[in-house]
Amino acid sequence: MGTSNDTILVTGGAGFIGSNFVLSLMNSGGAALVNLDLLTYAGNAANLASVANDPRYTFVRGDIGDAELVASLLRKHRPRAIVHFAAESHVDRSIVSPEAFVRTNVLGTFTLLEQARVYWAELDETGRAAFRFLHVSTDEVYGTLGPNDPAFSETTPYAPNSPYAASKAGSDHLARAYFHTFGLPVVTTNCSNNYGPFQFPEKLIPLVILNALEGKPLPVYGDGKNVRDWLFVEDHCAAIRRVLESGRPGETYNIGGNSERANIDVVTAICDLVDEMRPQAGAAPRRELITYVQDRPGHDRRYAIDARKITRELGWKPAEQFETGLRKTVRWYLENSEWVNSVRTGAYREWIEKNYAERAEL
Ligand code: NAD
Ligand code: DAU
Repeated sequence: MGTSNDTILVTGGAGFIGSNFVLSLMNSGGAALVNLDLLTYAGNAANLASVANDPRYTFVRGDIGDAELVASLLRKHRPRAIVHFAAESHVDRSIVSPEAFVRTNVLGTFTLLEQARVYWAELDETGRAAFRFLHVSTDEVYGTLGPNDPAFSETTPYAPNSPYAASKAGSDHLARAYFHTFGLPVVTTNCSNNYGPFQFPEKLIPLVILNALEGKPLPVYGDGKNVRDWLFVEDHCAAIRRVLESGRPGETYNIGGNSERANIDVVTAICDLVDEMRPQAGAAPRRELITYVQDRPGHDRRYAIDARKITRELGWKPAEQFETGLRKTVRWYLENSEWVNSVRTGAYREWIEKNYAERAEL
């Protein structure tokens, strides 16, 4: 049996990157799309309000670890591809409560791969050749870099350091094994830090924008010199679309912004943008809110991505500069206070209280 149409099954499409991906695909007049999302604290169906009534869009609230549900969705919608974003994604939460990371990232991905394999095996030859399982992963699986080390490439050995990174590494290995053992056409992407609209405000950039706006302390872990390679989320979505259409099964592609920045530089840049966009006559500059706090245990020092393979093979490179992307992001959070209020629920406040109350000021 073949895939019946051009449908794509997206998992985790109500989260930060997933919503941006769903919106970009739907707004470009793309295929029918089924979004399977459990709506954990990080998922928000309201992100997708603008496409909710589009006949090409179907939302299903459910767990990727529910084999029966996944099998029935595959049987019903007969997608030509699965794009797998669903995960527990916050390193600090994986330090406080790692179990959910193993459950969703390892076991959930296993269930999805297994059900995909059963579905794929029953497709006709054309359907099997065209099918793709795109596994969205992270650069954190490679561990940490010294200041002069070369950036992570697709051949860098795995050395995950947090429970989050280890669970993503486990899922990458399963994805790889399903290609090598069963021939399932899996492609994996390993991307650096994303930023942009709809990011849940427990991650560094949105947290600092909102705290700066509200005159609250801006918590910087350790000495603030940890380095991340920042990529605007729309560039990540464009890369995933390139990989979906032209990536080679069994391959992995590193995706990065070529924008390494120390955390303290990111935080001061946000302070200056908020000062500019929301000036407060006579008030101290927001930089004065910066507060160094106790470091994250096992905090990776530096990430950097060598994205030459995806550029060479698929012609992708980031379109946005960090400074312009950050400006757009700050503006988005300032203009979307309704969205911000809707995601900062009681559970959010509890997390913020737990994570920062226990961090002594340095
Ligand atoms: P997110 O935490 O914002 O969203 C995760 C989504 O998955 C949420 O909508 C949540 O409800 C859903 N989800 C969680 N558990 C689920 C389950 N068991 N079944 C179904 N849905 C479930 O995450 P994000 O930042 O958008 O990241 C998306 C993917 O990209 C993740 O796999 C992450 O590892 C990867 N990634 C993220 C970044 C980044 O900087 N944010 C960078 C590289 C890779
Ligand atoms: O590298 C890709 C990864 O980037 C993704 O796989 C993860 O899903 C995503 O959450 C992100 O992980 P980080 O741990 O790098 O992101 P986070 O925004 O939590 O932190 C960015 C940096 O800022 C990191 O060095 C820790 C630091 N930090 C973070 C917070 C929340 C602070 O200094 N203060 C803070 O309050």
